[in-house]
Amino acid sequence: MAGNSFGEIFRVTTFGESHGEGLGAVIDGCPSRIGLAPEDFVRDMARRRPGRYSFDTPRKEEDRVEILSGVFTGLTTGTPITLFIRNKDVDSRPYEILRQLFRPGHGDYTYFKKYGHFDFRGAGRYSARETAARVAAGVVAGKILEPLGVKVAAYTIELGAIRVRTINMDLVEKDPFYCPDAVASERMDEAISKARKEDDSLGGIAEVRVTNCPAGLGEPVFDKLDADLARAVMSVGAVKGVEIGAGFEAARLKGSENNDPITPDGFKTNRAGGILGGISNGDEIILRAAVKPIPSIGREQDTVDRQGRAAKMKLTGRFDVSAVPRIIPVLEAMVKIVLADHYLRSKAMV
Ligand SMILES: Cc1cc2nc3c(=O)[nH]c(=O)nc-3n(C[C@H](O)[C@H](O)[C@H](O)COP(=O)(O)O)c2cc1C
Repeated sequence: MAGNSFGEIFRVTTFGESHGEGLGAVIDGCPSRIGLAPEDFVRDMARRRPGRYSFDTPRKEEDRVEILSGVFTGLTTGTPITLFIRNKDVDSRPYEILRQLFRPGHGDYTYFKKYGHFDFRGAGRYSARETAARVAAGVVAGKILEPLGVKVAAYTIELGAIRVRTINMDLVEKDPFYCPDAVASERMDEAISKARKEDDSLGGIAEVRVTNCPAGLGEPVFDKLDADLARAVMSVGAVKGVEIGAGFEAARLKGSENNDPITPDGFKTNRAGGILGGISNGDEIILRAAVKPIPSIGREQDTVDRQGRAAKMKLTGRFDVSAVPRIIPVLEAMVKIVLADHYLRSKAMV
């Protein structure tokens, strides 16, 4: 079964490829009478867009979202909402090499093994460009969460093994890496420049924080909130690990250290990351995603061709040095989609 849809009530299907006509999302299950206009997408699409900073891929895309259906006189109608983003700055020439060779670390090899025939230009469907559709869908999910006061914010806590020491949320939106620590950000900048010079790439860790999430979201036992969040975040390309709250560190703590004491005023600590028994507990939800280094690098690498013969590959073209800053709005979008879906599911239960 194909896996292009996500969510139970608020159901998002993405379509399209990096170098085709365009890509987008169909959202089914969005309630009616929610105000929605093309301008609502501008801010988040700009935050994800390539070409914003010097370390991004130089591909320049306007990423304007067209609303093709589901909205009448500026309000959602409860029918499927189709969002479309046209591809404009398409240059497929550097991808000719992928007609024959597989990039180590990328999806070329597995797409060939599974489908036999696929659009490899710009990495086609497995390109990070697909995440533009997720960001657009996240804007609609955000409209459901907004009246509840739920806020979702992601930021970079590690890039190229440089870890933040402080978290000042006021810095995040102005920082090129969405980093909440000015000193760490400067060191990240140096690490990015060095990696670029060495024709290499860097990974990192992003943290997502959800404030004002109501208690009670999550559908045990298989659709636990943490399980659905992990699935949503892991479905983003380059994400190789997800932690909730103390995450892997919890494995090293004793029960007495890991339990969050409960008081009449709420939880004293938040090692649970806002989720217990698969259900939100009303505290902040804290999630971290480990992001691998970008597979497309300018160095020569060993690979094989479609006939399985050994080959050398040296890529030229347009790619990011790290997925970490650009992945930030994508992670926010995926978390919003999960929360909107679970909120609507919680309403359907009563
Ligand atoms: C925001 C973002 C930007 C990315 N940019 C690139 C890129 O420029 N070049 C590249 O080869 N991979 C890029 N990637 C990573 C690939 O999309 C990803 O590694 C690939 O689809 C293989 O999937 P996997 O890493 O999950 O196995 C990016 C990923 C994200 C989330």
